[in-house]
Formats: sequence, structure tokens, C-alpha cells
Amino acid sequence: MKNIIVILIALLFCSGIFKEKFFETPQDWPQPFYDFKKNPLKKEKILLGRVLFYDNALSQNNSISCASCHSPYSAFTHIDHALSHGIFDRIGTRNSPALMNLAWQKAFMWDGSVNHLDMQALAPITHTAEMNFSMDSLVLRLQSNSTYNFLFQQAYGDPSVTGERILKSLSQFMLTLVSSNAKYDEVKRGKTTFTDQELNGYRLFKENCNSCHTEPLFTNGSFANNGLGIDETLNDFGKMKLSGKKEDSLHFKIPTLRNIEYSHPYMHDGRFKKLSEVINHYTSQIRQGNSLSYELRNKIALSANEKVDLIAFLLTLSDKKFVFNPAFQPPKKINTSPKDLK
Ligand code: HEC
Ligand code: HEC
Repeated sequence: MKNIIVILIALLFCSGIFKEKFFETPQDWPQPFYDFKKNPLKKEKILLGRVLFYDNALSQNNSISCASCHSPYSAFTHIDHALSHGIFDRIGTRNSPALMNLAWQKAFMWDGSVNHLDMQALAPITHTAEMNFSMDSLVLRLQSNSTYNFLFQQAYGDPSVTGERILKSLSQFMLTLVSSNAKYDEVKRGKTTFTDQELNGYRLFKENCNSCHTEPLFTNGSFANNGLGIDETLNDFGKMKLSGKKEDSLHFKIPTLRNIEYSHPYMHDGRFKKLSEVINHYTSQIRQGNSLSYELRNKIALSANEKVDLIAFLLTLSDKKFVFNPAFQPPKKINTSPKDLK
């Protein structure tokens, strides 16, 4: 059985999936922030990261994978509930962010508590409401699994499993998740045009939203208070918890709006299910307060038609090629079931 798995993996290597470049900076985008020199992409490392990303073995009782909360079909978030669900049905305190264009991000998590992509995976692996495991136990588990012996050998030249290799391989896979083929991008490349409605939505977007959700990444990478009222059960004050500064109260990371059609529910606590609710928030529910971001202090007034136009523009950020990219899907032929593991 194990031999068959190894042969199937070898076939996957030869199948040409990785013939295209693994990473390219799209035209007119800024240079990525991630330092690729410290973790140069290699197809075998990307594959290892992809296998790890989809493997339940990363959780204590083999029940939860990264993809449980970051599913490719929803632009790598979960869509069936507002707050994340982890091991033993434990419920977290935040909505899982969609994952894409991570190479351009300087800070991770809604409050920026993780400052390097290579460190990110440690948080869910060890979190008691997510995977409830430890890096040491994970290393031992993978070390005694022949599929992983093979994959680490291919990726690193020897089969030994280390925490650093696990983290860097997961980064490799996540770095390849670049979304830059939405209708918006095609319009920018002169390959198609916006409808009148989308064009009007784009104008409204540039007037009201672009200062924070800045093109082409649709985030300026900073933090803001966008006027949401506090949820009194969660009492999540965002960045202030880390910085201790009052002016950071209710400041959360400005999320990208790419693939927003697929990544509902919205906001750090998943409080809005629909884009129309988000737009109504910005036009009529902004909570004034000392830490409210400057850009939102003046009322945004939009007519019913303008709201529809703005949403029409946001839908041009949907990138089907990204969501259905076969290179990002679960590696079908590789199965590390618990019985392979000791
Ligand atoms: C139980 C659900 C759950 C699991 C399992 C999970 N995540 Fe997450 N992930 C989240 C939540 C929730 C956040 C936001 C947490 C916060 O802001 O405090 C997050 C944040 C992230 C981010 C930061 C994204 C950003 O834009 O800031 C990355 C990257 C990430 N997860 C990758 C992973 C990887 C890799 C794994 C597997 C090792 C994983 N996640 C497992 C729920 C999960
Ligand atoms: C002051 C900066 C700022 C401005 C201006 C702004 N936003 Fe946001 N936006 C944010 C922040 C911060 C969040 C995340 C807030 C949270 O979860 O607590 C967010 C979240 C969102 C989300 C949810 C994304 C997700 O993945 O959950 C959408 C959709 C959105 N904004 C659309 C818009 C639109 C449309 C406009 C213009 C009408 C706009 N924003 C203007 C800062 C801003």
C-alpha cells in the first residue's frame, strides 16, 4: 500500500502540474514583501506544503486540517459559520481570513499579532480551539510516516522532519496562492471592459473605499477602525490588546476585497452574511468614536442604485481561476490516514 502511494506521488510530480512558474509578480503590482531568498520556492517543497495544508494529521486527534477552516472553494476561508470551528467542535473567537496574495502582507491575523508568514502556522497547530497539538509531537508523528519520509527527502534532500521545515513548506504552498485574474485585472490589462454599472461602482469605490482597500491588492496593509460596534460577548478590541494603545481600540487588519463574493461571512467576527449588509454598515451604521478611522468620519451617502453598482464592481474581483486552480486543490492521490501514523 505504502509503495503504491509513493508511486502515485511520483506520478503527480511528473504530471506537469508544476510546469508553469510557481510565483510571478503580476504586472503593475508592487514587489512582494516576503523575502524569497530565505526560503526559495521549489516544486517539491510546495507540494509538501500542500500535502501538509490538507492533512488532518496536523491536529491532535487527526480531525482538523488547515483546509478545514481555509477551504479553496471559498478563497481559503470557511463559509458555513461566523467564528472558526476547530478540534472537538470548539469554537474560536474570530472569523478565519481568506488566504491569498500573502507574499505582499507584512502582518498576519486580524490584530497583526504574527509578523512573519513562516511563524503563522504555529498558532493554529498549538491553539487549543484549533488543532490542539504541539510542534514536537507533530514532528514525531510525521517522522514515522513513510509518505512524509519520501516527501521530505524530495524537498530537502534527506527525510528528516523538523519544525522549521514544516513551517517553511507550509509558507511555500501559501505563497503560491496568488489571485490576479479577476475581471478587474482583465479590464486593467485591456482585455475586456466594465459594464456601465461596474464602471459607476468603480468610481464610487475609488471615492469611498480605495484609501483603505487600495488597488491592486485591495488592502493598504494597515489597520483601521471601520466603525463596527463592539460585540459584547467577544469583547474583541483588536490591535489595542497587543499595543496597549487607546488609539488602536477596535483597529483590525484591513482585509483584501479580492474574491469577496466567495469569502462570506464578513468582518473579524463574521457578523455580516451579505455584501449588501456591509454596504449598509458603511452608509448608515458607522459608530463614531475617538478611534474611528479618519477616512470614515464623514458620512458616505449612496442611493439604492449606487449601492447596487458598488456591489457590481466588487463582484468583478472574483477570480474563478484562483478558486478552481487545480494546483491549489487537495492532493487527491496522497492519503495519510491515521492508520499510517503511529
Ligand atoms: C479552527 C480553524 C482554523 C484552522 C484549523 C487553521 N486556521 Fe488559519 N486562521 C483561522 C482564524 C480564525 C484566523 C484569524 C485569527 C486571528 O486573527 O486571531 C486564521 C489566520 C490565518 C492566517 C493569517 C491570514 C491573514 O490574512 O492575516 C494564515 C496565513 C493562516 N491562518 C494559515 C493557516 C494554516 C497554515 C493552518 C494549518 C496549519 C491554519 N491556518 C489552520 C482559523 C483556522
Ligand atoms: C478606514 C479604512 C476603511 C475604509 C475607508 C473602508 N473599509 Fe472596509 N474594512 C476596513 C477594515 C479595518 C475592515 C475589517 C474590520 C473588522 O473586521 O473588524 C474592513 C472590512 C470590509 C469588508 C469585509 C471583508 C472581509 O473579508 O471580511 C468589506 C466587504 C469591506 N470592508 C468593504 C468596504 C467598502 C465597500 C468600502 C467603501 C464603501 C470600505 N470597505 C471602506 C477598513 C476600511
